[in-house]
Amino acid sequence: MTKERVLTGITTTGTPHLGNYVGAIRPAIEASRSDSVDSFLFLADYHALIKCQDPDLVRQSSKEIAATWLALGLDPQETVFYRQSDIPEITELTWVLNCNAAKGLMNRAHAYKAAVQSNEEAGDDPDFAVTMGLFSYPVLMAADILMFKAHKIPVGKDQIQHVEMARDIAQRFNHNFADVFTLPEAVVGDDVAVLQGLDGRKMSKSYNNTIPLFDTEKKLRKAINKIKTNLLEPGEPKDADDSTVFQLWSAFANPEEIQRMRDEFANGIAWGEAKKQLFELINGELSDARVRYLELMDDPAYIESVLMKGAERAREHSTALMQKVREAVGIGAIR
Ligand code: TRP
Repeated sequence: MTKERVLTGITTTGTPHLGNYVGAIRPAIEASRSDSVDSFLFLADYHALIKCQDPDLVRQSSKEIAATWLALGLDPQETVFYRQSDIPEITELTWVLNCNAAKGLMNRAHAYKAAVQSNEEAGDDPDFAVTMGLFSYPVLMAADILMFKAHKIPVGKDQIQHVEMARDIAQRFNHNFADVFTLPEAVVGDDVAVLQGLDGRKMSKSYNNTIPLFDTEKKLRKAINKIKTNLLEPGEPKDADDSTVFQLWSAFANPEEIQRMRDEFANGIAWGEAKKQLFELINGELSDARVRYLELMDDPAYIESVLMKGAERAREHSTALMQKVREAVGIGAIR
């Protein structure tokens, strides 16, 4: 049986929060345990440079993201787990793909268009503060994906376009040169996987409404107590489907526990009590991993050794593929 190859990258800006855990990390780790998938996961640190010019933040975020995934049970034997910048063939391939990606295609990329639009609205030059990194971001992402012949790319909705661009670039290359690349497809998680934040909107760093994943127990409790609720008193029936507390509960509880909480809402559970139970539930799922996380953060040499081994495995693929690409386009030894 040929396994399906699933690949995804995490840009190393910021600290993972509960929304990242429910929406991306937990499902990816579950999927990586399946025998029918061959999973690749990497720290997209060159992508981080597009939006972050703070070296300490990029370094710290790489460490936190690596520690988070390992603490939550990512098995580096099962998953090829590496750092993008350790694979020089990725940036090499980026150039070749740049020469095969239509500029017109890049003009349509959401991230670039959004930057231009906000410049125009502000009355600035349309390309104000737009770097070539931002403009050609989808090409670097295409190199990440095409390098490893990935079939399925689990991403958020905002990234679907980029996967389609990778597919487009691959098709064009295969047509012009040789059938080198596998055509990738985006897979988007269902809506349940989009966790609500403290204010009820999608949990996101940009809304400043996140709940921390591995901060202290105290901070977790505090954040949960801050979740916005209505003013209904204890004893008054509450609408579960309209509640962020219930939505979070559902992301962590089993079906019986979800039903029990739904009944408790109908019976008028007090907000304080619902939040207390929610804290116990989430903390129960995360507390062992939190201990491992803190141990890992204190042992960067171990994290580094895992990433080095991952890079070695990844490079077996990337050097072979890059060889084919060079051959196909006419780069290499004079014969
Ligand atoms: N651009 C993606 C994001 O910001 C991260 C990423 C980089 C990625 N390379 C990738 C995701 C390749 C999937 C495949 O979310």
